[in-house]
Amino acid sequence: MEAGHSQGHPAVPPEARDGPQSAPRTPAGPVATVRSPPSLRSPHVINIDDLRRRARRRLPRVVFNYVDGGADDEVTLRENCRVFQDVTFRPRQAVAMSSVDLRTRVLGTELAFPALLAPIGYLRLIHPRGELDAARAAGAAGIGFIQSTISGHALEKTREASTGPVGYQLYLVGGRAASEAAIERARVAGFSALYVTIDTPVAGLRERDFRGGMRELLGGSFASKLRFLPQFVVRPRWVAGFLRDGGVPRLENVVIPGEGPMQLIDVVGALARSRVTWDDFRWIRQAWPGPLVAKGVLTGDDARRAIDHGATGIVVSNHGGRQLDGASATLRALPEVVAAVAGQAEVLMDGGIRRGSDIVKAICLGARAVLVGRAYVYGLAAAGQTGVTRALEILRTDVERTLKLLGCPSIAALDGSYVDGPFGSR
Ligand SMILES: Cc1cc2nc3c(=O)[nH]c(=O)nc-3n(C[C@H](O)[C@H](O)[C@H](O)COP(=O)(O)O)c2cc1C
Repeated sequence: MEAGHSQGHPAVPPEARDGPQSAPRTPAGPVATVRSPPSLRSPHVINIDDLRRRARRRLPRVVFNYVDGGADDEVTLRENCRVFQDVTFRPRQAVAMSSVDLRTRVLGTELAFPALLAPIGYLRLIHPRGELDAARAAGAAGIGFIQSTISGHALEKTREASTGPVGYQLYLVGGRAASEAAIERARVAGFSALYVTIDTPVAGLRERDFRGGMRELLGGSFASKLRFLPQFVVRPRWVAGFLRDGGVPRLENVVIPGEGPMQLIDVVGALARSRVTWDDFRWIRQAWPGPLVAKGVLTGDDARRAIDHGATGIVVSNHGGRQLDGASATLRALPEVVAAVAGQAEVLMDGGIRRGSDIVKAICLGARAVLVGRAYVYGLAAAGQTGVTRALEILRTDVERTLKLLGCPSIAALDGSYVDGPFGSR
């Protein structure tokens, strides 16, 4: 680990200085008027799985598998989704309700419904406008966006793109000085929360990436890329966008002092050299004055440790089943963490959210809100910003319908009495 504080202004890559790109910022709020185009509406796209099928048709196989896959046998990946079926609803019937209140407050900011877009690495590979489109769609829907360290657009531009709250997810790739510079840039740009991911001391064994050649795609020789030709020929739109965007992007927010932005291909090695420990939380807490969130907690003990080291928020997460296969499904881990935290921090969860009813179940089991990962990335891959908008429209209307069917007037009124399950309590 490198030592020492960066002094003065953090390094800002040229991309960040191009000026604002989007509408001026307004307070987050419900923006039900944002509609997706007819081709993305019912009956063509009714649920998130429909967007997944479109993403599969739009992306080369290697990129789709990067998004869709998990670690080892993908047991945790599947279990994250399946476990929602173990929780059943206990509706209150014959309750008249014309409208329900979906709003909630998360880490000091109001969300139109209880969801944020999870940090996703390499978004610019999935779509050239990656983080910018995702942040715009989140802002328009009145919810939050969290930008990964492994991102191709400068965080100042992402902040400009969204009218909603934007958080930054930190990996210590590039060392402490590079991380401190990024934290300072996020603070100056107006990011609202810092999420430190603690479940990635090394990258998980994502077998689909090895077989598919993700490494060769990111940095191999021209000859090693010839294997992708058959996939590229049948995905001309993705290839055209990728080439117009200049090919494999750099990490605009990991600026190595004296060297500039890190190359994407260097990430896996850098991750393995950069594990975060609870000791790091001390300097991170000093460098970042706002809400500090530990992402990747699966036990009550770690939740307590995170709070003891300055965290004000917890994300119950197993990285979408991409790290330790066999780790507990997150909905199953949630009640233990909620009990251990005992109201001393806000508890969020992610993993397996594919329907609005999943969001409602997570809230009944004690989550303040959820992070949505693949569900929005499928939309981004399918149609850029409008695809993300459609994914969010699907989830928000699901949540609204579920509350009405439950006979519950608001997100704030949800609790364990609305569900039954092997690990929930009333
Ligand atoms: C393609 C992909 C890339 C991801 N990249 C990151 C990342 O850079 N940082 C991080 O903390 N989590 C990352 N995650 C994990 C997500 O933030 C989130 O925990 C997970 O996607 C939730 O599960 P879900 O996809 O089932 O919703 C990634 C997940 C996916 C699918």
